[in-house]
Amino acid sequence: MEALSRNFFLYLSKNKSLNKMAKRYGLKFGASKVVGGIDFDRTVSVIKNLNNRGLCTTVDHLGEFVNSVDETRERTAQEIHTIQTIAKEKLDAQTSVKLTSLGLDIDHHLVFENMRNILTEAQKHGVFVTIDMEDEVRCQGTLDIFKGLKTEFDNVGTVIQSYLYRSRDDINDLKKLLPNLRLVKGAYKESADVAYPDKKDVDDNLKQMIKDHLTNGNYTAVASHDDQIINFTKQFAEENNISRDLFEFQMLYGMRTQTQLDLVKQGYKMRVYVPYGNDWYGYFMRRLAERPANVAFVAKGMFRS
Ligand code: FDA
Repeated sequence: MEALSRNFFLYLSKNKSLNKMAKRYGLKFGASKVVGGIDFDRTVSVIKNLNNRGLCTTVDHLGEFVNSVDETRERTAQEIHTIQTIAKEKLDAQTSVKLTSLGLDIDHHLVFENMRNILTEAQKHGVFVTIDMEDEVRCQGTLDIFKGLKTEFDNVGTVIQSYLYRSRDDINDLKKLLPNLRLVKGAYKESADVAYPDKKDVDDNLKQMIKDHLTNGNYTAVASHDDQIINFTKQFAEENNISRDLFEFQMLYGMRTQTQLDLVKQGYKMRVYVPYGNDWYGYFMRRLAERPANVAFVAKGMFRS
């Protein structure tokens, strides 16, 4: 039943006409529970609300796979607008970007140019930018670009996925750059040639990566909704006298809200990943596919938004 529901929502996530329709009609079917707004200006009040509850944020303009140079420039300008709005509204917010939306599949020089423009503006306003990690075929390219940018900018980080066999080596290779890394399990469908097929191995590897990166003394964002991972991080930090200034937890907007608030109450830094934008439909369907429980909570809001 669970697999059926997952496949159904994954199928819906790829439906082009529904996607088109969704863009025309704005956030529907309870999507506002997991998406901040259809543009950044409409997401500001959501972020202020989270900030008022002690939660910091990172915001993500939805939409990947941009195919033309002009579109990448448009995305860059929109990202800069977001950064300027964060500064103007004094939001406790960072941004997250996907390099495919800035030209990763077109030309690496173009991505560098777009990212330099974004990071220069972000640096001016003290905003940190995380480069999300996409599928395995784009991992090396993303890391190469990150390494190049990191030599010029301090306000950039990236993501390492524990399902990939290569990831502990990547952490070791990056450590001399003193990187701020978000550590996750990984969200894409990958083959057993490059990624652990068993969940237990993915979980164990994430724990190892958290240990490695914290022991290296580098800032660690543990992005997981999994109590087992959260408790492991707390205990490892406690037993090894690792300051709470050296790590934070991250979760998606609308997921485990009470747990997010509990972590704040316990004195941990908790950052909420808030997606926004017109391209909300695929993201929303993927969240429904991930967890059948999400369907129930969204169904309640279906007729309200
Ligand atoms: P997982 O899905 O493995 O679930 C483990 C357990 O946690 C469940 O059995 C349940 O007990 C609990 N749980 C999970 N979700 C829950 C919920 N909603 N409510 C209650 N309990 C729940 N991926 C990627 O490839 N590139 C990236 O750049 C990012 N970026 C990113 C940022 C942030 C802030 C987050 C939170 C995640 C990502 N990811 C990502 C996604 C990540 O790789 C992963 O796919 C998801 O976080 C799911 O894995 P979890 O560790 O959260 O729990």
